[in-house]
Amino acid sequence: MNDSDSSPILTPISRRGFLKSTSSVVAGGAILGALAPERFALGASPGDTLKIALIGCGGRGSGAANQALSTHGDLKLIAVADVFKDRLDSSLKNLKEQHKERVDVPEENKFIGFEAYKKAIALADVVILATPPGFRPMMFEEAVRQGKHIFMEKPVAVDGPGVRKVLAAAEEAKKKNLKVGVGLQRHHQTGYLETMKRLHDGAIGDIVAMRAYWNGSTPWVKPRKELEAKFGRPLTEMEYQMQNWYYFTWICGDHIVEQHIHNLDVINWVKRGYPVRAVGMGGCEVRKGKDYGEIYDHHAVEFEYADGSRLSSQCRHILNCWNSVSEHVVGTKGSCDVSGHIIKGDNAWRFRADKNNPPKDPYQQEHDDLFDAIRNDRPYNEAENGAKSSMTAILGRMATYSGKVVEWDAALNSTLETMPKDLSWDAKPGPAPGPDGLYPRAVPGKSTAF
Ligand SMILES: NC(=O)c1ccc[n+]([C@@H]2O[C@H](COP(=O)([O-])OP(=O)(O)OC[C@H]3O[C@@H](n4cnc5c(N)ncnc54)[C@H](O)[C@@H]3O)[C@@H](O)[C@H]2O)c1
Repeated sequence: MNDSDSSPILTPISRRGFLKSTSSVVAGGAILGALAPERFALGASPGDTLKIALIGCGGRGSGAANQALSTHGDLKLIAVADVFKDRLDSSLKNLKEQHKERVDVPEENKFIGFEAYKKAIALADVVILATPPGFRPMMFEEAVRQGKHIFMEKPVAVDGPGVRKVLAAAEEAKKKNLKVGVGLQRHHQTGYLETMKRLHDGAIGDIVAMRAYWNGSTPWVKPRKELEAKFGRPLTEMEYQMQNWYYFTWICGDHIVEQHIHNLDVINWVKRGYPVRAVGMGGCEVRKGKDYGEIYDHHAVEFEYADGSRLSSQCRHILNCWNSVSEHVVGTKGSCDVSGHIIKGDNAWRFRADKNNPPKDPYQQEHDDLFDAIRNDRPYNEAENGAKSSMTAILGRMATYSGKVVEWDAALNSTLETMPKDLSWDAKPGPAPGPDGLYPRAVPGKSTAF
């Protein structure tokens, strides 16, 4: 186990572990230095064994690794990285049970801590980036720098500087012929693909009005008291926020970015473009209290596209309310329930799955497509759209936090960087609880949100 900067919560640092990890960094650095980045950019031959590293061994990372290991051809999971040892261990145990032959991670390839990703990336041909999204830009940039093929989860950033970093690295990835998949799996879902083909062929004419929703339940929370009881001591502020990442904008982006991105991305896909500005309102009505960090529990945003058409969007995490996770559009010749894959009007149509050849799970399909592109050297780079759809959601958050009209260019060029300069367990992340234990939230009309 490589535990050079592990959280004292779960893995007390040992001199032996420290020496081990230091020597492996040196070794990794030496190997990297000896090989030009172009060495890694060459397309894999169909018969090659592809070495995979998983960075961020939580729910989705474990799922993505399972899907990657379920693609055709020779592959092996050879390295894993996480900030918390218990997450790494349980993920690896499950993956080993699912793919006995394809999981081969020796102790020295298990990396723990904030710098762990660099060491795991160095060992792989393909990396899976599935940490919370605040860390994605730095990890994507590093993976591209090291010349690796990449699957990264959505969102790919939580602020303007992060999106710009991803866009720049996406260009670099193209130059290096790296393949990049982004976990916006609706792009690999047969019903969406069939619907989108018809919309783009003009089935309902020009698209003039759009709606998108992620109104649903509220996610997990780890109350400070429970964490302290579990670990037998007070947590540093960084440890607490990393355990409860969903509730902090610098790690999560707020739920408009973390979840609603899927629906906003679908509308961008329909429009084949991105909004030019947004206005919105939001707040925290119900999910109040010390355990719920700084994010809102609802956002309602109106996005304007270049042709003047508007997207009305809602996302809400409040129980016992009207729920919907869906997208709908109206055109000059009809309308479409995009998520239901139903077109109404002159070209009425409804997607019906072929019972003899049912569509694949889109989470699996996106990995089948990525690995096919890697093995057969097909162009494949979803990073730019991933970055711009992340930016769409960030734009929405900036509108609700500020209460102002926010222009796309201003949002993208924002210099407000949410990531703390120092990433260590004793460092102070940006948000800090007040004397009452509550974290301040953005106040529309007062907050600088971009
Ligand atoms: N495409 C989808 O439908 C879908 C579904 C679920 C989650 N996701 C995305 O996947 C990502 C992860 O979500 P999750 O539900 O798996 O969360 P999770 O909390 O279960 O897992 C995140 C893991 O990353 C680790 N981690 C955090 N910071 C790290 C760092 N700096 N370096 C290394 N490891 C770090 C955590 O310890 C944890 O094990 C999010 O971006 C989320 O939006 C996508």
